[in-house]
Amino acid sequence: MVLPSGEDRTRTLPDSNDANLPMYCLFVAFVSVLTSFQNGWNTSVTNMPEHVIRGCENRSGKNWLPDCLPMNNLLWGFAVGSYALGGLIGGLSAGHLQTKFGRRRTLMFNNVNFLLGALIQGISVQPSMFVIGRLLTGIGSGIGTVTVPTYLGEIATINARGFFGTINQIFIVTGIVFTQAIGFTLDFIPGWRILLALTAAPALAQILLLPFCVESPRYLISQHKIDEAREALKRLRHGFSIDKEFDEIVEGQREIEVEETSEGRGNGISMRKSLTFVELFKEQSSRKMTLICLGLSALQQLCGINGIIIYSNEIFSNAFHEKAKYATVGMSVTNLITTISSLGLIDKKGRRPLLLSSEIGMSVSSILVVVGLLFKINILIIVAAIFFVITFSIGLGPIPFLIIAELAPTHSVSATASAAMGLNWFCNFLVGWVFPVLIETLQGWTFLVFAIITSFGFVLTYMWIPETKGRSIEAISREIREGVVILDDNGKTSDEVAYEEIVENPNSELD
Ligand code: GLC
Repeated sequence: MVLPSGEDRTRTLPDSNDANLPMYCLFVAFVSVLTSFQNGWNTSVTNMPEHVIRGCENRSGKNWLPDCLPMNNLLWGFAVGSYALGGLIGGLSAGHLQTKFGRRRTLMFNNVNFLLGALIQGISVQPSMFVIGRLLTGIGSGIGTVTVPTYLGEIATINARGFFGTINQIFIVTGIVFTQAIGFTLDFIPGWRILLALTAAPALAQILLLPFCVESPRYLISQHKIDEAREALKRLRHGFSIDKEFDEIVEGQREIEVEETSEGRGNGISMRKSLTFVELFKEQSSRKMTLICLGLSALQQLCGINGIIIYSNEIFSNAFHEKAKYATVGMSVTNLITTISSLGLIDKKGRRPLLLSSEIGMSVSSILVVVGLLFKINILIIVAAIFFVITFSIGLGPIPFLIIAELAPTHSVSATASAAMGLNWFCNFLVGWVFPVLIETLQGWTFLVFAIITSFGFVLTYMWIPETKGRSIEAISREIREGVVILDDNGKTSDEVAYEEIVENPNSELD
């Protein structure tokens, strides 16, 4: 294969595989996670001002913009839930969009959903307008949950891929904290309109900043734009030599084609066509990887996190009465602080140990919530709920998003992320819908359901999820394809163990 020769080949710059957090790469990541911020913002924006949005007599017609939009419980539930339905639509369509238009352009166009959603909600005169606005912001967030982690995973350095992936979750939680905090001050008529329309601000900021960001080099290579891809990677790894990394990425995408289709061999660089949903399940290797991603995405919602986030006011109100909302904000701030602390942990400890600890921690805290609710021990309920959120934020919060871009090679990442995030939003909708029914019927026992689900997740993670820390996306997918990911107790492959033994004892081979 003939690769374009770059000036990097002759320079003696450090290898980009050893880079950690290049500045420009961080800037691109920051611009893309403005969409994640939108996701968190719109997830919780209706919580605080609920009573002012829907709590008055029908006064429409009196003013151009009515003070509120009267809605009964059913309609309100539908309006809140239409956001997750929008997420489902956005999640399922994003794979196709990001394959056709690229990661950067998909994010750019996606802002139309937030701008329209902001406008329609801000000036809604009917509940139906409010529902359409929520649906649009949901579609925008759904697209974001697929495209942002894909883009982040593809631009990230190998050493800090966990860090980059975690920024996505940090900004989702930051969005949640911001709406809750601003929601206190805009919790009046017509402040709620400003609050709902404010989602336009990050959209505008992203529209202004995205033109300064490069497209994902992996995407450009898949589109045969080799020179452009090299330039993009060079900018992302400023100060490092990209030769080795670039060759690996090109080889990774070509190699699959040579192995599996035998077309294009010897004809220069010819990349494999992106897979569709159905094709994901046809090949044994991508089926396994897809099932892992689907399972983790469902688990992220079915563990009950949004049950606790959305209904915490109700859960805390016994102990804190009218101050319960401060406890809710406190819980979200804890979520944010612990998610930020997981930034360093994910690349240091690896994905498997954190996922396993997260699942076991959530399972134990769910049981403690059950004990607290059954025996009416308020302090136990609060401590257990906070422990639940902390253990979520170090594993099940960030890892399901970032592991998709690590496990799926470029030709299947869009379809995999789309299917996984579609399922994630469906489960999000399901939990939001079923949670109040569970509380009504099972009462104190509700969290036992979540304890069982997370324990089940623990067993599946232990059996099936490979460690992806410190390996290139191409190497991981090769390992999965060849079915040789055998990990020891420290999450290391036999190759790594053998390598370490040789480094520690270089003469052993001669013995
Ligand atoms: C994850 C979930 C989201 C949840 C958030 C809470 O991002 O996908 O639904 O609200 O974590 O931290």
